[in-house]
Amino acid sequence: IACALKPKLLIGDEPTTALDVVLQAQILDLLRHLVAESRMGLLLISHDLAVVTEMADRITILRHGEVMEAGDTARTLSGQLHPYTRQLAQASMHVPARAKPHLVGTDQPLLQVEGITRDYPGRRTSLFRRAPAIRAVDDVSLSMAPGQSVALVGRSGCGKSTLARMILALDRPSSGAIRFRGEAITGKSEAELKPARRDMQVVFQDPYGSFDPRQKVEKLVAEPL
Ligand SMILES: Nc1ncnc2c1ncn2[C@@H]1O[C@H](COP(=O)(O)OP(=O)(O)OP(=O)(O)O)[C@@H](O)[C@H]1O
Ligand SMILES: [Mg+2]
Repeated sequence: IACALKPKLLIGDEPTTALDVVLQAQILDLLRHLVAESRMGLLLISHDLAVVTEMADRITILRHGEVMEAGDTARTLSGQLHPYTRQLAQASMHVPARAKPHLVGTDQPLLQVEGITRDYPGRRTSLFRRAPAIRAVDDVSLSMAPGQSVALVGRSGCGKSTLARMILALDRPSSGAIRFRGEAITGKSEAELKPARRDMQVVFQDPYGSFDPRQKVEKLVAEPL
């Protein structure tokens, strides 16, 4: 459904995690086709490295809201320079090779994320006391050209969905700037955001297919029962 409107940028937050493998392959095929043929930009949020290797030209690895490593997907995952990248790669079963990346023209970037930080106030522990603030996203920068796909990877709670919400202007960063087709998203009114909204689509994370790090394991397990 998100693709029917022919968006310029599609943000997929674990779009296929809850699906069976056949359906997953079909959806990934469709997304690949849209990136190649319609020069759509794809920001793919996932913790499935197999999917990511198959799909993304470039990869950004997050941990506790911070960028650990970023670059060409194949080189980053085969080089495994950063210990955290190695840990993620070893934890995933297999990493298939990917066909050659999409050619990127010299057009202006589709999406620019510049030094984005998001702090959430800590939980109130008593009338006058609060737990320290949570830094969900810590100084993250990335950029994407039209017709390119970029993967955002990291363990649960590392800030992937929070960053996606800020790109969609559903949440405001504490600091930093986000530009879509060269125009700032941050600090705009709803009316000013309309044209950008039309050209951005999102597949939200399936709340049942993924675990919310803020919930107790007991509740997560009990929910579908
Ligand atoms: N509205 C909020 N208020 C307070 N803390 C929040 C809020 N939203 C997210 N957080 C915290 O920010 C951090 C990042 O959460 P986020 O949902 O972005 O992670 P994620 O990488 O998408 O994880 P997952 O892979 O499980 O989807 C977590 O520690 C989370 O508890
Ligand atoms: Mg998430």
